[in-house]
Amino acid sequence: MSNLIAPSILAADFANLQRDIEMVNNSEADWFHIDIMDGVFVPNISFGMPVLKAISKHAKKTIDVHLMIVNPDQYIQTFANLGANVLTVHYEACTHLHRTVQAIKATGMKAGVALNPHTPIAVLEDIIADLDLVCIMSVNPGFGGQSFIENTYKKTSQLKHLIEFSKSACQIEIDGGVTNKNANELIEAGANVLVAGSYVFGAENPTETIADLKNIIT
Ligand code: DX5
Ligand code: ZN
Repeated sequence: MSNLIAPSILAADFANLQRDIEMVNNSEADWFHIDIMDGVFVPNISFGMPVLKAISKHAKKTIDVHLMIVNPDQYIQTFANLGANVLTVHYEACTHLHRTVQAIKATGMKAGVALNPHTPIAVLEDIIADLDLVCIMSVNPGFGGQSFIENTYKKTSQLKHLIEFSKSACQIEIDGGVTNKNANELIEAGANVLVAGSYVFGAENPTETIADLKNIIT
């Protein structure tokens, strides 16, 4: 499985969104990571469908949508229509997670589940075989620019073991506080998709910063 970089558009300049999307298109980045927040599941509101529609029009790489919303089921088909390729819901927001995962896959999208920092890997034991991706939150979801929670390394290797044991082809994504300081150790622990928001878009040269991250993880 190759190791991927997914710049988080939450940290882009929304007044220059097309410029920032083209930067990602022309960089060594692999995916677009799109954070949708509803102000209920998380204490922040990011952006919604019209903005995703505009992003999709220009994005030339995989669109990885991270839903930080309650009741995601009612929007699954909408996100598929808007061009999402991977749709990730939060474990903590889904009472009937198995049903939600099947509904995502039925649209043709890949299905992901995100875990908050306090949620143990073990809760995924009976769903892991159905998943295409698990997103381990390495910050509390809701905001970019927070510092990385060190316990993430342990969770990443626990998840890697669970995936190997279940012979699943599930990818491991890490989201929050990713920089050149922790990228290598995360890959060594078993991660293969690293989301990076403020570290990329806050850099003087985002294209070079993506290339550096890619170089560290390849
Ligand atoms: C946090 C979001 C992240 C965020 C990452 O709730 O899910 O994707 O954009 O941003 P950084 O890399 O700045 O921590
Ligand atoms: Zn995210």
